[in-house]
Amino acid sequence: MLPAVDSLVPEWLVVPDDPNDLADGVWPSSARRNADGVLDVAGVSATALAQTYGTPLLVLDEDEARGRARRFRTAFERAAAEHNTTAQVYYAGKAFLCTTVARWVVDEGLRVDVCTGGELAVALAAGVAPGTIGFHGNNKSVVELERAVEVGVGTIIVDSAIEIERLAAITARLDVRQRVLVRVISGVHAETHDFLATAHEDQKFGFPFAEAETAVARIRELPGLEFAGLHCHIGSQIFGVAGFRESASRVLDLHTTLLEGGAVPQLNLGGGFGIAYTRVDDPTPIDELAAGIVAAVAEGCAARGISVPALSFEPGRAIIGTAGVTIYEVGTTKDVTVESGQDRRYVSVDGGMSDNARPALYGAQYSARLASRAGTGAPQLSRVVGKHCESGDIVVDHEYLPNDLAPGDLLAVPATGAYCVSLASNYNHVPRPPVVAVRKGNSTVIVHGETIDDLLARDAGIDGASGSARHQ
Ligand code: LLP
Repeated sequence: MLPAVDSLVPEWLVVPDDPNDLADGVWPSSARRNADGVLDVAGVSATALAQTYGTPLLVLDEDEARGRARRFRTAFERAAAEHNTTAQVYYAGKAFLCTTVARWVVDEGLRVDVCTGGELAVALAAGVAPGTIGFHGNNKSVVELERAVEVGVGTIIVDSAIEIERLAAITARLDVRQRVLVRVISGVHAETHDFLATAHEDQKFGFPFAEAETAVARIRELPGLEFAGLHCHIGSQIFGVAGFRESASRVLDLHTTLLEGGAVPQLNLGGGFGIAYTRVDDPTPIDELAAGIVAAVAEGCAARGISVPALSFEPGRAIIGTAGVTIYEVGTTKDVTVESGQDRRYVSVDGGMSDNARPALYGAQYSARLASRAGTGAPQLSRVVGKHCESGDIVVDHEYLPNDLAPGDLLAVPATGAYCVSLASNYNHVPRPPVVAVRKGNSTVIVHGETIDDLLARDAGIDGASGSARHQ
């Protein structure tokens, strides 16, 4: 029996009736336990996946990702049509990008948002039409900008006065015209972890309103640039419509002022839509979000007597996050008595902060379940930790797992599709995991896992390592 008030347990974590259950909305909707109690995702068992590909392993449910992409597009398109405008949805590739995922989202009618030359290269390699790509970044290099303009990227979201001059020179040299949006800071602070909010005034992204007016005036006088409108992204993992409503209202003031000097055809409100990482997270349904945000923009336009611009949005996490499940193997367990009579079980897995840095970076909370079988033991307060030489190497800070969990069991962590593999590192020379897509009982590698040889290949001090050639 657990004590009634347990100081080791955060208030939001309740003892589950069944420590094998799979919370709705946290797992891909295809996730279930099969007749043997093994976790299945899209009809593929965790044990088969681990046997074929090893662990750790990121599994992506293709239909979950496609379904979410489709729901975002149709919800925003429908909401926009109700207010006599259009909406375009860009997939924010920073959440997770490889050619296969880029093709899934394009297939579902989305565009792709990239923020580096590397992400641009992946999108182009996937065959994404350059005209449907948006290019972000506060420090795009001249080489990156040249490449983007040369290949005909649809929109470049400009972030500084220096970038405007770089683009002026590039477009003049290439004798082309480039469509640009101007990223502004609305001052709205999304209710989220401080590191994730990108709309603070004291931060690196975008133009404050007063400077944005000057930037737009400059763009309008440059023959090589076509001013298409404003962009504003208020942060990440945001629930509800209120933050977007407030931000849109402020941006529409500037939008209205800019209309005095010429056309402002578009408004891009960025991404940041939250997902459920644990059962207590309650994200707003996509339809409701889209209807609420678009209605807020339409009301704001009506109040200012202007027509509703063409709208765009850039969800990343809300498309790919819930499609991902990471599978680890349990290596060791250790019971630590933290206070007298209060134990926490440390469950060490074969990955950690190298494949999911979010708990260490942001204090992000996740959940976990025994995947290779249904446990038979009572719920035991546990902390899932990685194999790295750092005490902050936590995968799941607080979870109840069956107390018969043992070395060799597989453990699954849901909602790891976004910002886990994309933020992965080789800390402690741990190779990065493979990514495997699952659909209708089949699995396919979509990103190869790294090997120790891959790591050694970059070490210029090893005879014959390709790294030495690479850096000459
Ligand atoms: N558009 C812009 C301009 C952005 O900066 C971002 C995210 C997005 C769209 C997509 O946001 P999403 O819908 O995925 O929340 N590494 C952090 C998140 C950083 C987000 C950066 N920008 C994390 O793991 O939570």
